[in-house]
Amino acid sequence: MMFGRRDVLRMATAAGLGSALPGGGLAAATDAGIEELRARVTPFRLLPDDYPMTEIWGYGPTAPGPEIRVRQGERVARRFVNDLPQGSSIHWHGIRIANGMDGVSGLTQEPVAPGMRFDYDFEAPDAGTYWYHAHNRSWEQVARGLHGALIVEEATPPDVDREEVMVLGDWLLNPETGQIDDSFDHPMMMSHGGRIGNYITVNGRSDLTLPARRHERLRLRLINASNARIFPLTLPGLAGWVVALDGMPLDAPEPIGDVLVLGPAQRADLIVDVVADAGGQAGLAQVEEDGDYFLAAFDVAGTAAQTRRGTPAPLPPNPNTGLPDLSAATPLRLVMAGGAMGRMQSAVLNGTRMGFRELIAEGRFWALNDMAAMTDTPLAELGLGEPVRLEIVNETVFPHAMHLHGMHFREVTADGALGPLRDTLLVGGQETREIAFTADNPGDWLFHCHMLSHAASGMTTWLRVT
Ligand code: C2O
Ligand code: CU
Repeated sequence: MMFGRRDVLRMATAAGLGSALPGGGLAAATDAGIEELRARVTPFRLLPDDYPMTEIWGYGPTAPGPEIRVRQGERVARRFVNDLPQGSSIHWHGIRIANGMDGVSGLTQEPVAPGMRFDYDFEAPDAGTYWYHAHNRSWEQVARGLHGALIVEEATPPDVDREEVMVLGDWLLNPETGQIDDSFDHPMMMSHGGRIGNYITVNGRSDLTLPARRHERLRLRLINASNARIFPLTLPGLAGWVVALDGMPLDAPEPIGDVLVLGPAQRADLIVDVVADAGGQAGLAQVEEDGDYFLAAFDVAGTAAQTRRGTPAPLPPNPNTGLPDLSAATPLRLVMAGGAMGRMQSAVLNGTRMGFRELIAEGRFWALNDMAAMTDTPLAELGLGEPVRLEIVNETVFPHAMHLHGMHFREVTADGALGPLRDTLLVGGQETREIAFTADNPGDWLFHCHMLSHAASGMTTWLRVT
């Protein structure tokens, strides 16, 4: 099989593309002791050298932003300084966090206004692969570049030769100017599969190439930071196991199947051995209709060992990850409706029932349990420690990546068994799935689609745990 690079967008190698930058330094300098994470508008070398720079919004000069890395149980402390032209806040996706640090504008805090700052300080109780991203107007702000990796290391890391964090990005760029397409609220994106880009990057590059040796053992931490793209992935020249999903270790490493599907916001930790011959190529590839395309490549040179190593040990389990008590669980139900080609006739927006056309005029294309916007009352009020099972009925024809803040859940499979811990579940069009969890983290927690333009146009609800 042939693996090629996806063609770079056809773009005018235009001259004269200036980027207007607002002056930095609006906010006060950092006090001693807390590291700053400053969001700003910045030119970034996103496209290859013969193209113009792209003006992004970044946590620093690049997208993804700086990798944040701590040991399990340590605290993450960052002073968020907002030099953006919009209010913003930072969500620490997948961290079982104290509610006040969850960073959800309009629910757990007010957006941090331009020129202002907010100190985040929380414990990272679970080892694993997490990420951080803007959580105000996230369908715009994440797409502009406000995302980065958050890595929590195990006390005893697994036995690998090295690790690579791979943040998958999906950019919608104007092919004339090389700039980010600003049609964030376009009805087509809201009502269909979400904002799908035309330029895919790994760690901000379309041509990421890394060295490797035959039989070298790598840990790959994959993070899908795209707004809406579902990645079907293959790993040519590599062979190995999935060892964690959405940060949480699997009970036992699972051999990687033919295709590894990573929905928006999902993560997978892999332990892989380089099986390509020295002189060959291995990598991470995306399955497309006309073939598999490398998203990131390993140039294999030399040999690390004569033979492959054996199956790796499972990663150590994270604390307090016992199974929810299904027999005592409170049943909840969430019906997802709307979108193009859906059957939604009407839904309630701000207390008023509206027909689908009226909803569209208000920028609402979806509803959760008949509500086309987040309501003042939660989907459910749960007691601390209450076990819950939540049926998710997708009446739409589109897949949705449903993300619960503050707690991980397990899927209840058809045979009644419990799947691995996750924080984001990809629910296919017209599918019904069920999840279960113990409501063991007090606070107000969002539950929303991580196709971010869906979340903005009706697919957001929340739970209260007290
Ligand atoms: Cu990563 Cu509310 O999301
Ligand atoms: Cu969705």
